[in-house]
Amino acid sequence: MKSWLTLVAEKYPFKNAVAIILLLCISSLAIAMLCKRFTAHPSSRPATPDLEKPSSRIKPADRKPGEWIPSDFKRPDAAPYPNWDIHTTKPLPYRPFKYGPKYFVTMGLRSMKWDEWIELDNQYPRFHADKARRIRERGDKCCMTAPEAVDGVMELLEELRSYLPQRYPTLFKRTPTGIANLFTNETFNTTTHPLPEAPIITCARLIQDDIALMYEKPDGQYYLLAGAILLAGFWRLSDKFRMPLSQIHTSGSVPQFQSKLEKGMTNFFRRLKPSDPVLRNNYFFQVDDDLAWSHSIGPEDSRGELSWNTAQKNKAIEHHWFRSERQSLRRLPRSGAVVFTIRTYFVPVVEIAREPGVPGRLASAVRSWGEDVARYKGRERYGEVLLEYLDGRHREQVEAGVVGTEEEDKDGEKEGRGYPF
Ligand SMILES: *[C@@H]1O[C@H](CO)[C@@H](O)[C@H](O)[C@H]1NC(C)=O
Ligand SMILES: *[C@@H]1O[C@H](CO)[C@@H](O)[C@H](O)[C@H]1NC(C)=O
Repeated sequence: MKSWLTLVAEKYPFKNAVAIILLLCISSLAIAMLCKRFTAHPSSRPATPDLEKPSSRIKPADRKPGEWIPSDFKRPDAAPYPNWDIHTTKPLPYRPFKYGPKYFVTMGLRSMKWDEWIELDNQYPRFHADKARRIRERGDKCCMTAPEAVDGVMELLEELRSYLPQRYPTLFKRTPTGIANLFTNETFNTTTHPLPEAPIITCARLIQDDIALMYEKPDGQYYLLAGAILLAGFWRLSDKFRMPLSQIHTSGSVPQFQSKLEKGMTNFFRRLKPSDPVLRNNYFFQVDDDLAWSHSIGPEDSRGELSWNTAQKNKAIEHHWFRSERQSLRRLPRSGAVVFTIRTYFVPVVEIAREPGVPGRLASAVRSWGEDVARYKGRERYGEVLLEYLDGRHREQVEAGVVGTEEEDKDGEKEGRGYPF
């Protein structure tokens, strides 16, 4: 019988494709760390522990690079999500953008409460169906596990089997051999041998998030060795699989930080403890409505470079989508693998522009992007249409007295209002 292990990809086309998402995730994480370290940050929310403050500038764990000593840390049990219902619980309205003029490739790295590790909502049926289709159509390209990463993936699966029924008892039930989904009626054996499918795929079917696992090697770098990247929109696991973070990063361009970036990033990963999970959010725009793959930047199977240059310029505002990600980052205690979960929230721009204060703040944020950020995010392709629209909606809100002027809103932002992660 062909084991799922042999399905592990054989070729890894290390093409020069733009590192869009992982790059942004990781480089912005590091940039923000550096920004925070070297710049006063008057608008930091007091409630959010600043994980990059000198107090946490501890030395990387005292262990050899690539070595992991299993920790006896155990995740606290999760409390059930209050009143969670697969039909009525709406996606959380993350609007993680700030007024300019300065743009600190914002990440707002913040501590994560264990209860909130995985967010599920009434989009679950759609995400679940999209993932099932993607697994059928291109599971071998979107879901990969290097042999040395199997143990970490098994640990992740075991964590999900334990966490999900605690947090979402109306959706999941722990069974003697695995976990059952009470909505789809799927049952997964996670402890029997051989496993019926690759464990990374089972993980992917359980939650709405994409998943990436990073492993430290003896060179001290973190490598992307397992993942289920099914709904990422802008990047392909097959382009990035087995790459170290630095290589994922250098295929992009954040030149002024490049030398410092790598070190800050690696240190952050190295000192990440199983007990200290973190969250961050980011956002993009997309000029088509395909959650799984933004075909505007090129066909998913394109061998050439994926690029915003191929996107049609100035499409009508109805085709502009706001795409934001909530990422969690934690280290698994037994294997030491660092698990990245990437949950996408996908909303038409015209919809979020109805929310009080949003068009003004979003327009200001988009204008505050530096050239490099603007290039990543493709602003040249949609900026004119987007900003004209947001400005118009903002004017209407000001005239209707729904929001104050930008100055007044900025004061609100300083007081912690107006920037819901
Ligand atoms: C799951 O099973 C229940 C009970 O047998 C049934 O009512 C429901 O329609 C099933 N759901 C699906 C998605 O098949
Ligand atoms: C799961 O494992 C149990 C016990 O080994 C077995 O009876 C059952 O058929 C398995 N179910 C699936 C869906 O593989």
